[in-house]
Amino acid sequence: MSGSAVDEYYPGLEGVIANETAIANIEGKDGSGGLEYRGYRIEDLADSVSYEETAFLLLHGDLPTASQLKDFDQRLKASRAIPEALVGLYKQIPASIHPMDVLRTSVSVLAHYDPDVSAPPSDHAANVRKAERLIAQMATAVAYRERVVKGLPLIAPDAKLDHAANFLHMVSGKVPSAVVRQAFDVSLVLYTEHELNASTFSARVTASTLSDLHSAIVAAVGTLKGPLHGGANEEAWKVLERVGAPENAERWIEDALARKERIMGFGHRVYKKGDPRAAILKRYCASIAREIGDDRWERIAEPIERAVTTQKLLPPNVDWPSARLYHYMGLGIELYTPIFAMARVAGWAAHVIEQLDHNRLMRPRARYIGPPAREIKPLQER
Ligand code: SDX
Repeated sequence: MSGSAVDEYYPGLEGVIANETAIANIEGKDGSGGLEYRGYRIEDLADSVSYEETAFLLLHGDLPTASQLKDFDQRLKASRAIPEALVGLYKQIPASIHPMDVLRTSVSVLAHYDPDVSAPPSDHAANVRKAERLIAQMATAVAYRERVVKGLPLIAPDAKLDHAANFLHMVSGKVPSAVVRQAFDVSLVLYTEHELNASTFSARVTASTLSDLHSAIVAAVGTLKGPLHGGANEEAWKVLERVGAPENAERWIEDALARKERIMGFGHRVYKKGDPRAAILKRYCASIAREIGDDRWERIAEPIERAVTTQKLLPPNVDWPSARLYHYMGLGIELYTPIFAMARVAGWAAHVIEQLDHNRLMRPRARYIGPPAREIKPLQER
């Protein structure tokens, strides 16, 4: 290998350190995995801070003071509106197009109307302003498209509601109960950031060419869509629906494992002893199931979780409980991954800004395994 290439190949970049970051740590105390956002443990954050505080932490480096949170909250609320041109596009894009594809388009269109569209990628303050606007706008974009596809009138953002409640209200027209709002807010906090996962890596590679923040977020949305990554929460719900009833669960999972089926919502490239987010969300699933008086899906999920965890040694990841939680909230499964994306945009943006602040172009090498050097034969001799 020429140049600085290290002739070691790690398929899927498994275990490769490709960046340094001050944003999240998923190593855990003994290296078996654990999640911290800028040094705060996810177990502490999930039960005590809002999505707004979490987004501020990731973008600005620490949890906000009361006055910082008030100003941040006002900036987010002032940025919730999306351009009429984008709403018009929602009415033209066929209803059959998946919301993740429409969200990818939405971020592109939002870039064209962003007041800092001409700011250089090196402008940290402009990048933070763009990030804050995208956090507010993506929630509106997801909700508006859903209402258009359902043939329902748009519900404008309500400045009296926080980020979590406002999104649920824009989708359903109902202001959520305190219990539902808290559970949804926790799910957003848990989805906000996760070190160098595939979609974050995609965003950082894009930023490393000194491209702009919106282009990096478009790349991240396209990456998150895949069922091995963010798309898994939608697939995890389909597993539960296929099983259908608690009495089917044991038999179904035994057959699925015997068929060596990949059970969506389980396993993780880094967490081998369990995803701390799944344990947190499972508690909220149980409390919301009680609130709505229907624990059927909890009784379907439990035997599946027990079997995959004990027989395959693959504990559930965050997408396994989030699928049930969003079902309990009356959210359509096509919204599950867009919700993941509208939460994760704060983490993606923090990584893009970190990359642009201390950049080095990311350009790994590939080991060549194609045909050896050879001469070209003239066309009539081929
Ligand atoms: C997210 O990276 C992140 O941080 C991502 C994320 C984030 O917050 O950004 O945490 C969010 O993407 C969570 C993961 C969501 N994806 C899924 O739930 C899809 C199902 N899970 C798998 O596809 C898999 O577990 C991955 C993709 C999550 C991890 O895959 P790896 O590390 O590449 O592991 P692998 O595919 O090489 O599997 C190793 C073995 C294989 O068995 P063998 O072929 O060696 O016999 O474990 C098996 C796999 O078949 N396996 C599974 C399985 N996951 C792995 N078998 C059954 N069901 C599964 N879910």
